[in-house]
Amino acid sequence: MLGTVFTGLRFENPFLLASAPPTESESNIMRAFDAGWGGVVTKTIGLHPVANVAGPKTKFLRATPDSPHLSMQKRPGTALHSSWNWELISDKTLDWWIPRLGRIKKAHPAKMLVASIMAGSGSDEELRHWQELATACQDQGADALELNLSCPHMDRKDMGSNIGKDPELLSVVTQAVKEVSKVPVWAKLTPSTTDIVVEARGAFLAGADAITSSNTFPSLPLIDPETLEFEMNVDGLVSSGGLGGPAILPLSLAKMAQMTQAFPDRSFSGIGGVAEFAHALNYFLLGCGTVQVCTAAMLDHAVGPNVIKRLTAGMTETMEKRGWASLDDFRGAMRERVVAHSKIRRPDGDAYHGGYEGEGYAS
Ligand SMILES: Cc1cc2nc3c(=O)[nH]c(=O)nc-3n(C[C@H](O)[C@H](O)[C@H](O)COP(=O)(O)O)c2cc1C
Repeated sequence: MLGTVFTGLRFENPFLLASAPPTESESNIMRAFDAGWGGVVTKTIGLHPVANVAGPKTKFLRATPDSPHLSMQKRPGTALHSSWNWELISDKTLDWWIPRLGRIKKAHPAKMLVASIMAGSGSDEELRHWQELATACQDQGADALELNLSCPHMDRKDMGSNIGKDPELLSVVTQAVKEVSKVPVWAKLTPSTTDIVVEARGAFLAGADAITSSNTFPSLPLIDPETLEFEMNVDGLVSSGGLGGPAILPLSLAKMAQMTQAFPDRSFSGIGGVAEFAHALNYFLLGCGTVQVCTAAMLDHAVGPNVIKRLTAGMTETMEKRGWASLDDFRGAMRERVVAHSKIRRPDGDAYHGGYEGEGYAS
């Protein structure tokens, strides 16, 4: 019932751990598969040396109920607002990853192992790096490749979201990978562009088999009013990092709706703010064929054993209740309900009170 085919690959359920800390090691990925995830996207693998910041790489912003207070300070009785991170890609080398990818795939042949990869784009040598990464991972049995064109905190102009913001560069990179790939290629785009349809078109024209969206949104931690320091900093300094978790669910849905409407016959993997099936359902109803999770899994024993249970149980229950036999019965069902603002009905003549009714407006 939960099984689905996405970019030609058979998933036992449409839920994957996203490329992030939950998929940074062999033991995490093995535990994730044992817990029931249909697939994982590995933490992004690159060829350039990676050194993370001194201090925490991720923190969680929490809201106090019935109060406007938002803070990263851990305190009881709060609700998660978002995650904030400035973590770079995997600090393990390709040589470290290669035998592990092979072992993971051998231990779990029916699970989908997607390798996330990243290199630069400023030279032919960098494009060869993409090809080297792609070949090495697929030779170890990776079922698909996800191109990280979206990391929001890269200083290098030819990497991460700086590629994802440039439709030509991302086409060149996607094409280079497609030249050597024997497995499906997913392009993970940055939400930080004016019209994401432009970048999605560039990726599809270059041969991408699917688009993954969203990576985290560029953002800053809040400044503590008592200390006048950023709640997350190293030596008082901070850089733009990535926002994930509940706060980005509606933002990511807006990006996704733009793309699934522009390319209704294409494949999309939705990410952003998913912690239970009600959240994932949004992505499916807008046209996604799989959904990925990071923040919620990080906060649930690092790989989300309870999250995946909630997702599969929620999906089964909803499908039984609605009489849906497979994801295809409801995928995209709400896609055409997102329209231009001018297409939304206005009240007739006398019934119009200038919009001054409802929460947030004076009566
Ligand atoms: C700490 C951290 C590290 C991440 N590292 C990567 C990465 O290496 N590659 C990547 O493509 N996305 C990375 N992401 C982005 C996630 O895969 C995901 O797109 C994002 O967190 C939104 O999903 P969420 O709301 O479920 O967290 C990272 C996110 C976090 C929080």
